Amino acid sequence: MLIDQERLKADLRTLTSLQRLFHYFKPYRFQWVIAVLALLAVHVVEAAIPIYLKVGIDLISKQDENILLPILAILGLTAVRFAILHFGRRKNALISIYISYDLRQEFYAHLQTLGRGFYANYQLGDLIARATNDMESIRRFFRSAVHRLVSLIGVALIAPIFMVQQSVQLTLLLIPLLLVIAANGWYLAGRILLASAGVQVGFGALTETVQQNLKGIRTIQSHAQEEREIKHFTGVSHRYALAHQKLINLNAIFTASTVLGSGLMTLIVVGVGGSQVLAGQMSVGTLTAFIFYLAMILGVIKESSFVVYALLNASTAATRVFEIVDEKPEIQDAPAGSSAQPINGEIAVYDLSYSYPVGAGVRSRLVLEEISLSISPGEMIAIIGRVGSGKSTLLRLLARQLQSNSGQIKVDGQDLRDIPLSHLRQNLSFVPQDTFLFAAPISENISFDNPERPLELIWQAARAAQLEATIDKFSAGLSTLIGERGVTLSGGQKQRTSLARGLIRQTPILLLDDCFSALDTKTEALVLSQLRAIRNGLTTVLVSHRLLATRYVDRIYILEQGRIVEAGSHNELIGQNGYYAKLVSMQD
Ligand SMILES: Nc1ncnc2c1ncn2[C@@H]1O[C@H](COP(=O)(O)OP(=O)(O)O)[C@@H](O)[C@H]1O
Ligand SMILES: [Mg+2]
Repeated sequence: MLIDQERLKADLRTLTSLQRLFHYFKPYRFQWVIAVLALLAVHVVEAAIPIYLKVGIDLISKQDENILLPILAILGLTAVRFAILHFGRRKNALISIYISYDLRQEFYAHLQTLGRGFYANYQLGDLIARATNDMESIRRFFRSAVHRLVSLIGVALIAPIFMVQQSVQLTLLLIPLLLVIAANGWYLAGRILLASAGVQVGFGALTETVQQNLKGIRTIQSHAQEEREIKHFTGVSHRYALAHQKLINLNAIFTASTVLGSGLMTLIVVGVGGSQVLAGQMSVGTLTAFIFYLAMILGVIKESSFVVYALLNASTAATRVFEIVDEKPEIQDAPAGSSAQPINGEIAVYDLSYSYPVGAGVRSRLVLEEISLSISPGEMIAIIGRVGSGKSTLLRLLARQLQSNSGQIKVDGQDLRDIPLSHLRQNLSFVPQDTFLFAAPISENISFDNPERPLELIWQAARAAQLEATIDKFSAGLSTLIGERGVTLSGGQKQRTSLARGLIRQTPILLLDDCFSALDTKTEALVLSQLRAIRNGLTTVLVSHRLLATRYVDRIYILEQGRIVEAGSHNELIGQNGYYAKLVSMQD
């Protein structure tokens, strides 16, 4: 998670992510134009106030008591200013909420399309940081910074016109100082950008650490590693604090230097303007009005540090968010217009080879080599092989969670790549090796794909997975909450719940990936003995590193180091007296 400094610098120059962010304004552009016009109008009204102030003060200095008109004018203008400001700010804040909502929706929806490879490359904490912290930076930018930016530009355009009206000479005197302040701001902005990227990376690391720690808290405690964890956290936390400190230092320098500039400008105006008043070349009212305009400019210059910070912060945040939004799903859906034909469950695999993408610490080597197999609709097949022989990889390819490098997979004669993904996944259930259960009632975990299913069907699936006795023991029955705040299931119970989730769907194809591994032999035999009846006429592929399953299936494929070394029924393979026969005699 190193920051790509070069890319960030390039970003600073072009601010491409920021430009892209502004596309999200499009749906709201008319509303936004109204908001901007209102915020600009605020400054026009604001700039009119000193005119009446000047009239009032000049009347007072002439001992004239007729100042009711300027007072009423100032009161009226202030009220109008308040009303427009409220309207503009509110509108702008609402738009910022809409925009960040849209972006968050897009981000989240995109995450749903990304596959195994993507999730292997990104840490969860980092992704969460992007979805929360970065998203918040962007919203803050649209809410406060955009509005202040409009003020900045508005005041920069309006105030000088009024200043020149009061005194050309004083205005010209201030210009060099303003240029110095602007140059200084630009220089510091670059450094602030890098520092704020550092803070965001630090936040990602912090989230990741906390998450890992909480996920593994039981292991940490049982190994008495709390001290080491705290030490590790301290390191991460310390780096985050340091990154923050750097950013705060830069921001402080920025703010302090603008304050210094402001002071100098005030000094010039009071010094030069004051002596002109004394010499009778300028009225007190004019000087007061001028100081008022100067204050307007100084006010926004002070705020500009915030604008620069929020702008750059949003730019890095947007870069990080768009990095995810731009990730292409590894699994491309079938070309548009591909038909979703009914699936009967015939599977044919030709010369299928696969190697995982080369990544950190992973060499490119074939995990599967020239696999060919053919399964008729309704058959029950076992794929047997040692741990690491490639069984899970083969099932992932069949389920199109992975894309094969060479060879072909056909379902009902149709290339897997031409079947729309959602159609395939409606017709194929995959019970993975590593079970995942939601923190939800057990019934919702079983009937995950369809919360409306009748209870009787849920019981049926539970029975088929040998889960009935377990559920009966819970007083809340099927409504028993499992997971974080509910009951903790044993490994075998979890596996059976996950199995029930796959069985209940009654899809034409069911892939079971070693999902009896945590069951005792007796329970496994019970599940297997009923499986054929439940899956009657439906294709079932079950993977196992144990041999029990082979007695219940039509055909067995033996997978050894990514190759199919033997295939046939239990009796045929025993007759061949080869690899399988040896395995059986070893287990007996
Ligand atoms: N995501 C991955 N990236 C790289 N290699 C992997 C990945 N998943 C599995 N492998 C490797 O592929 C081989 C086959 O793994 P797998 O299909 O899980 O075997 P099995 O399910 O038979 O135990 C193993 O050597 C494993 O290390
Ligand atoms: Mg496996």
